[in-house]
Amino acid sequence: MSRRELRGCRIIVTGASSGIGYELTQRLLAAGANVLATARRADRLQSLATDVAVGQQRLVIHPGDVTDATTRSTLVEIARQAWDGLDGVINNAGTGAIGRFDQAEESRVRQIFEVNFFAPVELTRLALPLLSAGQTPFVTNIGSVLGHVAMPMKSEYCASKFALRGWSDALASELRGRGIDVVWVAPNTTRSEFFDNLIEVNGQAAVNPLSMSSELVARKIVTALQRRRTRLLLTASGRALLVADFVFPRLLRRLLSR
Ligand SMILES: NC(=O)c1ccc[n+]([C@@H]2O[C@H](COP(=O)([O-])OP(=O)(O)OC[C@H]3O[C@@H](n4cnc5c(N)ncnc54)[C@H](OP(=O)(O)O)[C@@H]3O)[C@@H](O)[C@H]2O)c1
Repeated sequence: MSRRELRGCRIIVTGASSGIGYELTQRLLAAGANVLATARRADRLQSLATDVAVGQQRLVIHPGDVTDATTRSTLVEIARQAWDGLDGVINNAGTGAIGRFDQAEESRVRQIFEVNFFAPVELTRLALPLLSAGQTPFVTNIGSVLGHVAMPMKSEYCASKFALRGWSDALASELRGRGIDVVWVAPNTTRSEFFDNLIEVNGQAAVNPLSMSSELVARKIVTALQRRRTRLLLTASGRALLVADFVFPRLLRRLLSR
């Protein structure tokens, strides 16, 4: 399979105001792609535009809440009008919470699913007609190792990423015949603002200072897109956790419950 040329690609990136999405947008622009960057914090998107010296045609910013249907349809409409088409959607915006399931309200799981599951699913639905006519088109879903292995105190987040993976894999098969790649990316814990912006913290939210940087995650995603890889488990420890979950499920649950 030939490499994907990112130069000239027209890509929507959600969650572009910080962390992985911010770094990814910078790298995609550096590779010559056009990016429509979105998130709620307009000031952050604006500083992204200042950080990278590219013209307004190359970087289009649109502040909005990705859980809002109007935001999603506006994004696709902007791509149609600004670029007359679309080659990629990167569903990166995400959120989570820490705390026991039995101490949480229903709103927590619903909020997390709106951002992590329904928003990417519905944005993709709207984008598919344009992607069908795109160049080496793709949908990239930023999942997590926690979309493969469930952790206590993060039940809603894990459930949302498991759901995203199920949908993503099914979609990959459905779209094969149409030439649209569906890419699943599963980072481990990554240094970003993620743990500062959790919906609720009812327990410890410590981030290992040795965890991957957002910049490294973004770099690996760009390389994977260029090589047309469709499944990206970013670290050996993430892969080891998957194997442990498969081979020693009871032991792993016992260890995790401590
Ligand atoms: N950090 C980790 O340890 C880790 C590990 C595995 C996977 N991931 C996944 O990686 C992705 C990026 O996370 P990150 O680590 O880069 O965290 P981050 O720095 O907090 O970035 C999250 C992004 O999502 C946006 N966002 C959140 N809710 C939104 C909403 N309702 N509407 C629009 N945008 C929204 C945020 O922007 P605004 O607040 O400006 O809207 C921000 O740009 C997420 O899907 C996350 O689940 C992260």
